[in-house]
Amino acid sequence: MGPMALPLSDQDMDDLAAYFSSQKVTPIAVPDEVVAAGKALYMGGDMSRGLAACTACHGPRGSGVEQAKYPNLSGQHPAYIKAQLIAFRTAARENDPNGMMRDVAKKLTDQDIEALSKYVAGLH
Ligand code: HEC
Repeated sequence: MGPMALPLSDQDMDDLAAYFSSQKVTPIAVPDEVVAAGKALYMGGDMSRGLAACTACHGPRGSGVEQAKYPNLSGQHPAYIKAQLIAFRTAARENDPNGMMRDVAKKLTDQDIEALSKYVAGLH
C-alpha cells in the first residue's frame, strides 16, 4: 500500500476521501428464514448456551458504540463478518478486549455464523 499512496498529493487524497464517502452501501438480499434465524440470535442470544445477544454490544442496528469500542457491523460484507467470527472462534483474531468476542464466537456453530453474517450485513 505504501508505494501506491506515495505519489498522491493532498488534493488527490481529499478527492479520494470525497469519492469514497459519497458511495452508498448496497443492501444485500437475504432469504427470510436466514434473516429470522440470524435475528433471533442477534437480538436475543441463546440462554441455553450462555450466548450473549449481539445487540447488547453492537446495538439493535449494528451501529456499535464508539466510546466503548464496540464496532459498527451494519453494511459490512457477509464474507467479512463470517471470516471475523471464524477468526474469533479459533482465536486467530485476538484483539478483542478481555476476549469478549472470542467468548461469544466460541459458542457459535457454523450455521449460526452463516445466518448471523447475512443478517448483520443487512442491518441499518
Ligand atoms: C460483550 C460485548 C460483545 C458482544 C455480546 C458481541 N460482540 Fe462482537 N465485538 C465486540 C468487540 C469489543 C469487538 C471489537 C474487537 C476489536 O477491538 O477489534 C467486536 C467485534 C466484532 C466483529 C468484527 C468487526 C470488525 O469490524 O472487524 C464482528 C463481526 C462481531 N463482533 C460480531 C458479533 C456478533 C455476530 C455477535 C453476537 C453473536 C457479537 N459480535 C457479540 C464486543 C461484543
